[in-house]
Amino acid sequence: MYKITKSEQLSKNEYDFWIEAPRIAKKAKPGQFVMLRINEMGERIPLTIADTDDSSGKIRLVFQVIGKTTAELGKLTIGDTILDLTGPLGMPTEIKNYGTVMIVGGGVGIAAVFPIIKGLKKAGNRVITILGAKTAELVILQEECRQYSDELIITTDDGTKGMKGLVTDAMEQVIANETINSSWAIGPSMMMKFCTMTAAKYELPLYVSLNPIMIDGTGMCGGCRVTIDGSIKFACVDGPEFKGTEVNWDEFISRMKQYKTEEETCLVDYQKVQVINRG
Ligand SMILES: Cc1cc2nc3c(=O)[nH]c(=O)nc-3n(C[C@H](O)[C@H](O)[C@H](O)COP(=O)(O)OP(=O)(O)OC[C@H]3O[C@@H](n4cnc5c(N)ncnc54)[C@H](O)[C@@H]3O)c2cc1C
Ligand code: FES
Repeated sequence: MYKITKSEQLSKNEYDFWIEAPRIAKKAKPGQFVMLRINEMGERIPLTIADTDDSSGKIRLVFQVIGKTTAELGKLTIGDTILDLTGPLGMPTEIKNYGTVMIVGGGVGIAAVFPIIKGLKKAGNRVITILGAKTAELVILQEECRQYSDELIITTDDGTKGMKGLVTDAMEQVIANETINSSWAIGPSMMMKFCTMTAAKYELPLYVSLNPIMIDGTGMCGGCRVTIDGSIKFACVDGPEFKGTEVNWDEFISRMKQYKTEEETCLVDYQKVQVINRG
């Protein structure tokens, strides 16, 4: 059992948890994730390790409520426990001194870029961070990201914070003014696809973190299959980080929609049970 020691609601649908998991906290590296199962009746879901505190043996998970399991998770609070937490899983980000790096985080993907920003800053890079969201209240972990960034640019679709526009507009500005040696973009699939296209125009290497549906997280079920440079890879063990230009985006985006009907039915059924239990 893994105890939640800190819980904060970041926005209407986003939560920030610190959880006691000493062995994971000791080993986790930027880019890695955990698979968690709330209780015996639950499915396993992957969540990025957004931060660790090795001295207190805790890990940080930041998540968005989008379906049944994340809705159940969002109902937990300090003192509650999670049944299974497996990790750290996945290949870590290659942290080294590249020179100047550009890191782009979109929506809840900001939670996944934060440990990469921190790792790259500690490795001596000049870090330029772009955070984008639909609206001001969805720009999460802003102060944490600022602490490890030499420059921080915020974009919102509606202009309620920072620059009005998309993260790719900010990328264009940065690329016009700086020599960037490597870059990362993590967020919704469509954002990562367009960030890849923007970076490719300038022959700038850009890495993305793919978030396909995962079942076991250990390379055995094949659920997270993605096509990278024409070969089949499993995002859980070969990734989740890949070079953006090598990802077959059309296939990836179409596979993400594969269980949409079942997921919607599951959430509606869960919400009905919640209403019955309340009333
Ligand atoms: C390696 C990895 C790391 C991740 N890290 C985080 C994280 O740090 N924070 C976070 O909020 N989420 C993260 N995700 C996504 C998270 O796993 C899903 O949001 C979660 O599994 C959804 O479960 P659910 O039962 O609540 O929703 P479901 O009922 O499974 O899905 C509901 C809706 O969400 C969409 N969806 C389902 N799975 C995903 C997915 N993997 N990515 C995007 N949309 C999805 C579906 O199309 C559907 O419309 C990560 C995914 C991966 C693979
Ligand atoms: S989640 Fe099963 S192989 Fe990756």
